[in-house]
Amino acid sequence: MIKIAILGYGTIGSGVVEVLQTNKESIAKRAGDEIEVKYILDLRDFPGDPMEDKVVHDYDIIANDDEIQVVVEAMGGVEPAYTFVKRALLAGKNVTTSNKALVAKHGAELLAIAKEKEINFLFEASVGGGIPIIRPLNSSLTADEIEEITGILNGTTNYMLSKMTFEGLEFDDVLKDAQSRGYAEADPTADIEGYDACRKIAILTSLVCGQQVDFEEIYTEGITKITATDIKYAKAMGRVIKLLATSKKVGDSYYAMVAPFMLSQQHPLFSVNDVFNAIFVHGNVLGDAMFYGSGAGKLPTASAVVADIVDIAKHLHRNIMISWSSKKLNLIDCKKAESRFFVRATDSEADVTSVFGDVEIIKVPEITGEVGFLTGAMSEEEFENKSAGLKNMLQRIRVE
Ligand code: HSE
Repeated sequence: MIKIAILGYGTIGSGVVEVLQTNKESIAKRAGDEIEVKYILDLRDFPGDPMEDKVVHDYDIIANDDEIQVVVEAMGGVEPAYTFVKRALLAGKNVTTSNKALVAKHGAELLAIAKEKEINFLFEASVGGGIPIIRPLNSSLTADEIEEITGILNGTTNYMLSKMTFEGLEFDDVLKDAQSRGYAEADPTADIEGYDACRKIAILTSLVCGQQVDFEEIYTEGITKITATDIKYAKAMGRVIKLLATSKKVGDSYYAMVAPFMLSQQHPLFSVNDVFNAIFVHGNVLGDAMFYGSGAGKLPTASAVVADIVDIAKHLHRNIMISWSSKKLNLIDCKKAESRFFVRATDSEADVTSVFGDVEIIKVPEITGEVGFLTGAMSEEEFENKSAGLKNMLQRIRVE
């Protein structure tokens, strides 16, 4: 019997209990042993819940119990999750977490402790919810130099942009809808400002380069400035607007960025809609690969957490090497990144041409009093310099 403790009995923690119950026998077969939830740590009580008797309010009970071999961290946020996880690892307990904030900030240190102690710190659910991406990057794709990872890594904003596209709604209306469905939180900042996707691409980039990528250094732009008018232009061009988190190798380093992009129908992420996530990976020998599926939500995320528990059970007292050192990777300034840009401005077409040279004017019959156009390919820096010559730029969105 492998005894586990779950920290946090919210959406993910209760999902882990549900998955362990639903697939009890097959999980035991695959893990080579039964998994038993011995404790659930939460500030609240859960009267009437079948797990009511397992609930404890004091972390010391878990930390000091030698029977606990696995700690499942499902609290979210950096503290007290970091303190609890570090203490568990130092006490020789394996940990799995779905917490991207914790992994992005302290992943390298926690992995080093796990290695030192010959145990495991696993975090498959921290990126892409139920989609396998951490394990593939750490095992199946290790023959490659990963030259690009580009993902739709946030289900909430993908749902919102899909709804704006299909129903022509404004940002504020789809945000209310996403909140009423429980996709967006009461404070939606982390999703809509791109911070959630930023931490996820920081984790993926750290894994492929084997060094620490500081999420604070990733250029991050959310979707709050995207309007129904932008979506009309995108439709007129046969494109969609998606929040991409991307990381591309240039020489020995990477540049990374989170921002809305206009994608053509040929782009592999064009058809990824609603709350789904997808991750496009390009390796120098593999070529292209895509990972697609349920990127958020109770059971998909719990599925990845429980798969980590099974992996831990299969590797008790044996560390699964994950190459991610605390040595910092100096990201390349994304001002050097090149793309085309879609721009809306109230300047005249003649003024636009004198600033950018030849551009592709996009006509949407019902939109008047402004000009929408596509520039040629240029660096971020060049775009910034040139666009300063416009009198009144209303919008600019990168184009892939
Ligand atoms: N808020 C996140 C999302 C949850 O919408 O994708 C999963 O990390």
